Amino acid sequence: MDRTLILVKPDAMQRGLAGEIIARLERRGLKIVGMKLLHMDEALAKKHYAIHEGKPFFKPLVDYITSSPIIAAVLEGTKSVDVTRNTMGATNPVEAGLGTIRGDFGLEIGRNLVHGSDSPENASKEIALFFSPQELVSFKRDIDRWIIES
Ligand code: RTP
Ligand code: MG
Repeated sequence: MDRTLILVKPDAMQRGLAGEIIARLERRGLKIVGMKLLHMDEALAKKHYAIHEGKPFFKPLVDYITSSPIIAAVLEGTKSVDVTRNTMGATNPVEAGLGTIRGDFGLEIGRNLVHGSDSPENASKEIALFFSPQELVSFKRDIDRWIIES
C-alpha cells in the first residue's frame, strides 16, 4: 500500500489555500483515501514531530501546528511519499522551486504551508496517529483510474 500523510498547516488554512494545496496533489494523480479537519493538541503534535524534540525550533513548531484547525489527509498512489514531497518543494520556501507549493506560496521556514511524510515507514506511523483503518477508503487501482471497492 503506497500511502502518505499530508497536513494542511495552520498558515495555509488561514490564508484559504487548503483547496489549492489539495488540488495540486490530486491533479498529480494521487488519490485521497482519508481526510479530516481537526485541531491538533500538544500531545499529538509532540508525537507527530517527536524526531525534532530537543531542536531549537521544536517548541515554535508545536505552538504553530496547534494554533488552528488543520486538514489531515492520506494520499495513495505510485511513490506517494516522493511525489508528495517534490510537489511540496523544499522545507525552506526560500529554497523551494517555483511550481512547488512552498515555492509558489511560502517565504518563511516556520510557515511552510504543508507537511508530507518523509519515508514510507514514517508515513505508516503518521497515518496511524491520525486515522483508524476504518476511516480509510480502499480503491481498486487500474493504471489511470480508481474504482471504489464495495
Ligand atoms: P514537515 O515535516 O513539516 O513536512 O517538513 P519537512 O519534512 O520538510 O521538514 P522537517 O525537517 O521535518 O522539519 C519540520 C518542520 O520544522 C520547521 N523547521 N524549522 N528553523 C529551522 O531551522 C527549521 N527547520 C525545520 C519547519 O516548519 C518544518 O516544516
Ligand atoms: Mg518532516
